[in-house]
Amino acid sequence: TIEKMKGNSTILVTGGAGYVGSHTVVELLNNNYTVIAVDNLVNCYSSGNEKPEALKRVEKITGETVTFYDIDIRDKEALDKVFKTHKIDAVIHFAALKSVGESVQIPLTYYQNNIGGSSTLFEVMANNGVKKLVFSSSATVYGDPQFLPITELHPTGQGCTNPYGKTKYFVEEILKDLCTSDQEWKVVLLRYFNPVGAHESGLIGEDPSGIPNNLMPYIAQVAVGRREKLQVFGADYPTVDGTGVRDYIHITDLAIGHLKALERMFSPCFKSWKAYNLGTGRGYSVLEMVKAFAKASGKPINHEIVGRRGGDIAECYADATLAKIDLDWVATRDIGAMCRDTWNWQKKNPKGFHSS
Ligand code: NAD
Ligand code: WQD
Repeated sequence: TIEKMKGNSTILVTGGAGYVGSHTVVELLNNNYTVIAVDNLVNCYSSGNEKPEALKRVEKITGETVTFYDIDIRDKEALDKVFKTHKIDAVIHFAALKSVGESVQIPLTYYQNNIGGSSTLFEVMANNGVKKLVFSSSATVYGDPQFLPITELHPTGQGCTNPYGKTKYFVEEILKDLCTSDQEWKVVLLRYFNPVGAHESGLIGEDPSGIPNNLMPYIAQVAVGRREKLQVFGADYPTVDGTGVRDYIHITDLAIGHLKALERMFSPCFKSWKAYNLGTGRGYSVLEMVKAFAKASGKPINHEIVGRRGGDIAECYADATLAKIDLDWVATRDIGAMCRDTWNWQKKNPKGFHSS
């Protein structure tokens, strides 16, 4: 019956042209779901008024078509039209602004886009009787961990120091309130740890605009010669080698987690909301990542130790047992695969999607 359900289901994917969205769309199409993607192109490349390059590549990988709308999720009328045009069964909601540093500079923009956009989406969903949602949350809702590995029972919202992190926490809370108000809502909150890597084809991957904020894309750009050297933010943390430790997860494993979440949500026994960590359960330090990437790429990664970055925590990794039990999901791609696939994407597309 799961097979039948997939073949008959249409999933609306907000932010479908982005990094996590595009990889998830590949897995959805490969599993016979029909996909409607919406994105306002604020953080993805598109030449002219065509389909975003990432989605063209998704079509190339899968041989399937993606229906795409250039829509801002804050635009209630435009969204409503999509729900009236297609029979949507569930929504996977990726659309958000995600730069931690930028969110400190322009908090209102983040609150309007991420919280305003989300509440508009939920309102339009409810008006159209679509009450199944998978939400892109983040390990950032846990703040500075009180214990490791982090389980879903860890308190949330207490240590979110930046507006971006707060938007994830607030939207989680809004969704919990919605579930309390109306039993028909079914919501899965997926708390991602650190997504890295690319589709194994090398056709899609992470394509940050400007100087990358995150470690993996920065390392990849050093390897390909676009940046001179990596700055390692602090080597005086109480960790294995003094550098920050994170739970990096391959983007394909993360994407598959969304399909598992959908299947769970469609099962009749699923009620209300549930949060799941998506991580490997194992942490790697910055220097371990540098070493693994150098090995995978055969390129030396020029780097220097500098001071800590404000707001960073020492260590963070998941207890992903609940996702294994409830969703039958485990991350299977290791650090070698994460580095190999990032490098494959980076060297084939030195300037990201602009390379095409
Ligand atoms: P991304 O920027 O690549 O993708 C987000 C997409 O949403 C972009 O294509 C952007 O153009 C679109 N978008 C933004 N605001 C929109 C709006 N108002 N209307 C329509 N489209 C809009 O980011 P990503 O890495 O793919 O992240 C996807 C989701 O996962 C986000 O919600 C992010 O906060 C969350 N998340 C990401 C990470 C990570 O490290 N990548 C970690 C945890 C959670
Ligand atoms: C990883 C490690 C840095 C860059 C962020 C968001 C989080 C989530 C995922 C969305 C840290 C170090 C980094 C560099 C470095 N996003 N580093 N030099 O900070 O764990 O998480 O992305 O929800 O909310 O905060 O990821 O990749 O930025 O950093 O030394 O140039 O690499 O200090 O230890 P982070 P990151």
